[in-house]
Amino acid sequence: MKKITLISRISFLYGVIQIIVCLTGDQLLAQNDHARIKIDIERQVGEIDKMIYGNFVEHLGRCIYGGLYEPGSSLSDKNGFRKDVIQATKELNVPIVRWPGGNFVSGYHWEDGIGPVEKRPVRMDLAWGYRENNSFGTDEFIDWCHEVQTEPYFCVNLGTGTMDEARNWVEYCNIEKGTYYADLRIKNGHKQPHKVIYWGLGNEMDGSWQMGHKNAEDYGKFALETAKLMKGIDKNIKLVASGSSNYGGDWINWNRTILEYLKDQVDFISLHNYTGNRSNNYYEYMASTRFAEKAIKITEGIIQAELSKTKRNEPIYIAFDEYNVWYRAKGEEGNEEIYNLEDALVVATYLNTFIRNANIVKMANMAQLVNVIAPIFTTKEGSWYQTIFYPLYLFANNCHGTALETFVDSPVYQLKDTQIPYLDVSSAFNKEKNEVILNVVNRDKERLIITDIISQFGIFDGEAEIYQVNSKDIKDQNSAAKLLVKTNKGKQNVKGANFTYSFPAHSYTMIIIPLGSR
Ligand code: AHR
Repeated sequence: MKKITLISRISFLYGVIQIIVCLTGDQLLAQNDHARIKIDIERQVGEIDKMIYGNFVEHLGRCIYGGLYEPGSSLSDKNGFRKDVIQATKELNVPIVRWPGGNFVSGYHWEDGIGPVEKRPVRMDLAWGYRENNSFGTDEFIDWCHEVQTEPYFCVNLGTGTMDEARNWVEYCNIEKGTYYADLRIKNGHKQPHKVIYWGLGNEMDGSWQMGHKNAEDYGKFALETAKLMKGIDKNIKLVASGSSNYGGDWINWNRTILEYLKDQVDFISLHNYTGNRSNNYYEYMASTRFAEKAIKITEGIIQAELSKTKRNEPIYIAFDEYNVWYRAKGEEGNEEIYNLEDALVVATYLNTFIRNANIVKMANMAQLVNVIAPIFTTKEGSWYQTIFYPLYLFANNCHGTALETFVDSPVYQLKDTQIPYLDVSSAFNKEKNEVILNVVNRDKERLIITDIISQFGIFDGEAEIYQVNSKDIKDQNSAAKLLVKTNKGKQNVKGANFTYSFPAHSYTMIIIPLGSR
């Protein structure tokens, strides 16, 4: 009895102390420094499609010419492909690459880029204002894809192009033999069909900057008729509708209207989004990919609404086929985006977003792979990795399996009328390896966040691998001379239902946690 009284007195006293502590600002801050992440491998969002780690190469600046393709360079192979870029692309484990644009495709006529190189025409490219000599075309791109062991994803010209051009391209690539275009491919040295499965129906057709820009009705009608012809040539292809990129306009209505037309033909609708730190406001910038998540959620609703009007059983997914940080440079030689640590953290939040929405986002393509706005940067002498290479590398090589719904109790910061959690989190369960992959961006610029990581199903058991992208200063950049921002590795033994980890200020951390047997 006496004991109980003592305990209740102590807990009363503790309660009073807690209230006092909460009333003093500093202590409140100290309390807020603690976070909790709960992982339950039974709370599943969906299977992670490896295509969310895709990439994109466009005829823009030094992406193709002087980037992945540089005939005559001592660093290139017999096809003119830069061997260091092939190596880096393989390291990035890129499952699918979109080509040839981008804005470029809306003025591109694919037949200019086949056959003997010396006979290919030089054209004015009105998207970026270059001369295109067409020495890199369909067959070169396919050969390059074979070398890097990636899936090709073509985008057709629905700007200045015709339906016939689009369907003829499918015929050139996918019909084995015995038709005009299939035999032309064979004559051009490719006996086997290219078997291109993924085809985009135009690029950013909602943007007034696009050659041949259309309103949603006109695009919907044109894309529908084109889709029918393309599938008439090869019914196995997968089509991607050109969804929103122009968020200044009525982008929600664009997606709804085009899906009204295309819901029975397409397998994906695309979304594009770029972000940047234009006003040099770190905390605003660190929260900027929340817009991408909102666009995904809204588009998911539109997809479901449109599917409810058809008899088709197959789903329509989102292909987030252009995303990145892009705000400084235009992309041409000498004016290419050089990334810093904060950009790498923002890219990690894009990737977290795709994992959190893995049920609906089944493809994503960083724009772009080489030089322009890219993780790989080439010079005449070699190549080096930009800061954004490292989060993409970690995700693409490790974050596979089933995406989980993660409970996160994180301290927050105030951004206008919204509270933003400092920790941006995603997690996945890899059944084959019996491990959980946890991705955490600590957006706090100054403080580490001590975090309890709690398993709600089974126990953690073994040596957790820790990979961290960080550097002293958020503005630190890489260069050919020095890689300031890269991945540091660590280990921590974990056993039981929880462990504690301190996520350093301005960092992205991946923890691969082995699970005990269940
Ligand atoms: O990736 C660079 C450009 O950004 C693409 O050409 C276009 O689709 C987007 O506006």
